[in-house]
Amino acid sequence: RHRVGVLISGRGSNMAALVEASREPQCPYQIVLVASDKPEAPGLAWAAERGVATFAKSPKGIPKAEYEAAIDAALREAGVEAIALAGYMRLLSDDFVGKWRGRVINIHPSLLPKYKGLDTHARAIAAGDAVAGCSVHLVTEELDGGEVLGQAQVPILPGDTVDALAERVLAEEHKLYPRTLSAWLNRRKPVSAA
Ligand code: GAR
Repeated sequence: RHRVGVLISGRGSNMAALVEASREPQCPYQIVLVASDKPEAPGLAWAAERGVATFAKSPKGIPKAEYEAAIDAALREAGVEAIALAGYMRLLSDDFVGKWRGRVINIHPSLLPKYKGLDTHARAIAAGDAVAGCSVHLVTEELDGGEVLGQAQVPILPGDTVDALAERVLAEEHKLYPRTLSAWLNRRKPVSAA
């Protein structure tokens, strides 16, 4: 099975969905490492309780290159061949993206190319959109700009709040991410950890 590392910064509900789906016998991947830039991220404890290897390193007070080198080393030591970003709220450097080119995907809470960046649900509501959703995409140097691999839509209802919409979209994220990761890995030729 493909060895996948997940990067998180907080709650980790998408990471949890990926781990849960990986328990299905037909699943083409296993989550071999959950890493976080926030040592206190609740998702880290969730993963550790379930026997998933974890790694935490705060970038505070060290150069970005040094911080990313530590993440990179942890991923490589775990034999990771593909990285899934799941609520990882830190930009990866061009250097890191270059080293892992074509092997990093992300889930973003909008129908890309709409609403790259933050506050996606507030922006969709303010624009009067009738639909919102989520996208899984390849990570490139351009923020939320890589090829879209899968999307799911939900309606925006009259009187929707950001929280209500976020919850509706999140339920779709939890289904979309495992499905899209699996389909993407099944299409790819096996790649050994570099
Ligand atoms: C998810 O909604 C994810 O799409 C979003 O953060 C949330 C993380 O929740 N990601 C981004 O906004 C990336 N820019 P989770 O930690 O429970 O998976």
